Amino acid sequence: MSAPSLEVDLADLRTAASTCTSCGLCERRTHVVFGEGNPASPLVLVGEGPGDEEDKTGRPFVGRAGKLLDQALLDNGLTREHVYICNTVKCRAADWSTGKPVNRAPTDSETLACRQWLIPQLAAISPEVILCIGAPSAKNLIKKDFKITVERGRYFASDYSKTILATLHPAYILRQMNISGDGGYSLLVGDIAKAWEAAQRLREKRAMAPLMVAETQLGFEL
Ligand code: URA
Repeated sequence: MSAPSLEVDLADLRTAASTCTSCGLCERRTHVVFGEGNPASPLVLVGEGPGDEEDKTGRPFVGRAGKLLDQALLDNGLTREHVYICNTVKCRAADWSTGKPVNRAPTDSETLACRQWLIPQLAAISPEVILCIGAPSAKNLIKKDFKITVERGRYFASDYSKTILATLHPAYILRQMNISGDGGYSLLVGDIAKAWEAAQRLREKRAMAPLMVAETQLGFEL
């Protein structure tokens, strides 16, 4: 029997998600923004949801916030090829009451509806570490009452990876930059460093595990 293919699982999931009508966000979307990057990565970044640029292109984090996230990855010597990036909800959440869309956080019911895609997506990738980008992602994947200002950068237990932590959302950092200093950018860079180091360490440990079992059984070091 051949091993199950991660690529096929994700590809099937992406195809199924592309016609999703489980919540009202489907009515105004241009694209379902499923996710992209390296599905074999030990680290998955989970944001909040697509904005205007993401909705137009079908790609996560390609607007202003995305550019800052790219820079924070680069400051750690990383590119999008090193990680996998997706979102809590796959369709743009916006308030259309004025006629012009204004991005908003996804509601609880939209978030719940989209777990049918996010949870199997994480299971297919099986990362060592998940880095939640922003509070809505942390509230969805870590705990409902997550306090981003107090609890960012801390490791938590996870049902979806070996460990999970959260960092500031780059859109929040951009707003803060207008008020003072780096707006928390150095915290984002530091949290990515922490998540990447843990992800690599845990992946190495996983790779070593069969060797260590073999050594125990043989009674000497291989
Ligand atoms: N903000 C997010 O949380 N996700 C995106 O894909 C873009 C902006």
